[in-house]
Amino acid sequence: MTIHLGDVAPDFTAQTTEGVLSFHEWLGESWGILFSHPKDFTPVCTTELGAFAARKAEFDQRNTKIIGLSVDDVESHNRWKGDIAETQGAALNFPLIGDEDHRVADLYDMIHPQPNDTLTVRSLFVVGPDKKIKLTLTYPASTGRNIDEVIRVLDSLQLSASYAVATPVNWRDGEDVIISNSVSDEEARTRFPKGFRKLKDYLRLTPQPNK
Ligand code: BEZ
Repeated sequence: MTIHLGDVAPDFTAQTTEGVLSFHEWLGESWGILFSHPKDFTPVCTTELGAFAARKAEFDQRNTKIIGLSVDDVESHNRWKGDIAETQGAALNFPLIGDEDHRVADLYDMIHPQPNDTLTVRSLFVVGPDKKIKLTLTYPASTGRNIDEVIRVLDSLQLSASYAVATPVNWRDGEDVIISNSVSDEEARTRFPKGFRKLKDYLRLTPQPNK
């Protein structure tokens, strides 16, 4: 099934390293990030899981739960956990879904048959508190993801969810943002009391409103 931005994230119940969970119920009112790994005991995945674990507090601060998936079973994940802690210096501290039958991977179209018809690619989905898909990323198995970028886009998504703003190229938390074109100049003066710079009618910059 192809997943588009704005779709409701498909719900599922699955075995994980933290027991059986139902995705929507587990998310509750939080934001969520679901990301796939091609296979257990593989090098890039080992580094990614260690990095997500090491930075989990930053996701917690953003009211965001993280959950991984790999197409092996939970017993295999539990054996792999020791290697992750040993080599990456951070122990798995979020659930990892056992998806040996590819049920969840198929639901989220995580298996792309051209590169490989059994392993997942590196998919990542950001889900909002309304359970809708806010962002998708797809990397090939050979390229590890960038946690800084995942946190950066999460900050942008959360900001746009609260204020009528968009974030410019290479934006980082704390930098100026773009006022949405649906907001008139008059409205902008009250909604963005720190003021704004008008470079063009369609390009108005304002200090990040929640800082
Ligand atoms: C890895 O995680 O290193 C990996 C997994 C599957 C294919 C290629 C690389």
